[in-house]
Amino acid sequence: MSSSFKSNDNIVQSINTEDYFPISFEEIESAAKQAMSAPAFSYIASGAGGEETVKKNADAFKKYSVIPRVLNDMSNLDTSITMFGRTYPTPLLLAPVGVLKLADEQGDLAVARAAAKYQVPFIQSTVSSYSIEDVAQAASGSSKWFQLYWSKNEEISFNMVKRAEEAGYEAIVLTIDTITLGYREADLRHRFSPLAQGFGQGNYESDPVFLSTLDKVDSQTILQSIITNINYPALNWEHVKRLKKRTSLPILLKGILHPKDALRAIEYGVDGIIVSNHGGRQLDGVISSIDALPEIVKVVDGQVPVLFDSGIRRGIDALKVLALGADSVLIGRPFVYSLAAGGEKGVEQFLANFLQDLQTSMMLSGVNNVKELRQLPIVRM
Ligand SMILES: Cc1cc2nc3c(=O)[nH]c(=O)nc-3n(C[C@H](O)[C@H](O)[C@H](O)COP(=O)(O)O)c2cc1C
Repeated sequence: MSSSFKSNDNIVQSINTEDYFPISFEEIESAAKQAMSAPAFSYIASGAGGEETVKKNADAFKKYSVIPRVLNDMSNLDTSITMFGRTYPTPLLLAPVGVLKLADEQGDLAVARAAAKYQVPFIQSTVSSYSIEDVAQAASGSSKWFQLYWSKNEEISFNMVKRAEEAGYEAIVLTIDTITLGYREADLRHRFSPLAQGFGQGNYESDPVFLSTLDKVDSQTILQSIITNINYPALNWEHVKRLKKRTSLPILLKGILHPKDALRAIEYGVDGIIVSNHGGRQLDGVISSIDALPEIVKVVDGQVPVLFDSGIRRGIDALKVLALGADSVLIGRPFVYSLAAGGEKGVEQFLANFLQDLQTSMMLSGVNNVKELRQLPIVRM
């Protein structure tokens, strides 16, 4: 496969016309809803509180408009980007999503394989259904990053990071907006916790340091200990410092919305920032990610990559945040719904379509590459 997707690579050819897979986000979401139990679908779809921020994430994109350039010879379109000394063929990554077995039995394995096909890095969650080693084996040779939820017993965190490093993962994403679980009304109503039901223990039941802390190794003790470890309100900047010392991989912080926190992250030697509100699942009422992005890009001023997360549904959404200065873009719920609606093939098809949409949007905006995209005028109304 080429190292970037050019305008003459006809990505859309991979569409399997016999098995129609829905095109739009709304159709994929509705197919997923039909394929899943009500509590499981609702776990993925819902946000915290009254879902003010879920709505803000969606609505805010509409305030930003692109002013396209024309007659710019678009025959050499190049979607590649460079981050941490590596070239990635697209400016996309799959956001860390735990408990993926909820959507499909093959969970992370299916998603990692589909992502590998399009050379989109897969960010594996700490609370994934399968272990780091299982995923590494299922999609060997592809780009994978590891997302860390800090453990109260921090030796567990350090060991998971070590395992990711040994398995060839390329970066560590420390999620910092989940020191406790958001107040998710729908899940409380359904009394539904996929973690407590054993959907997210792949990395724990395979971790010798975690297992060594248990009095006895049975599923109830494992689940209880995961929940005890993962709720860690004491997390602070000193932990970031300690993590830095324990790995040579780049460290990104996921969940930054305040420019001062972005600057502080740089002071603490962090290698990248992910502007995110966790898809509105953590603190309801917070600013949409796209509204938070420009100020953070401004203060960071190119010192480290700024990645964008929360609300990406279509190619044009990715184009807008790249034009606002993001270095790359995380896709969340759309790939999870694709997994529920069509398994591994569903995620493949979604990615093929998304890339086609992004390419088309770049061409029609008159930008040949991501660097030019960052000069594209975009106005907020
Ligand atoms: C079902 C589900 C599970 C998630 N699990 C994690 C996780 O384990 N770790 C993490 O950092 N973020 C997790 N997230 C948040 C995503 O990484 C991402 O921030 C969010 O989906 C972005 O919002 P969007 O999907 O609306 O674009 C999860 C999101 C969903 C929908």
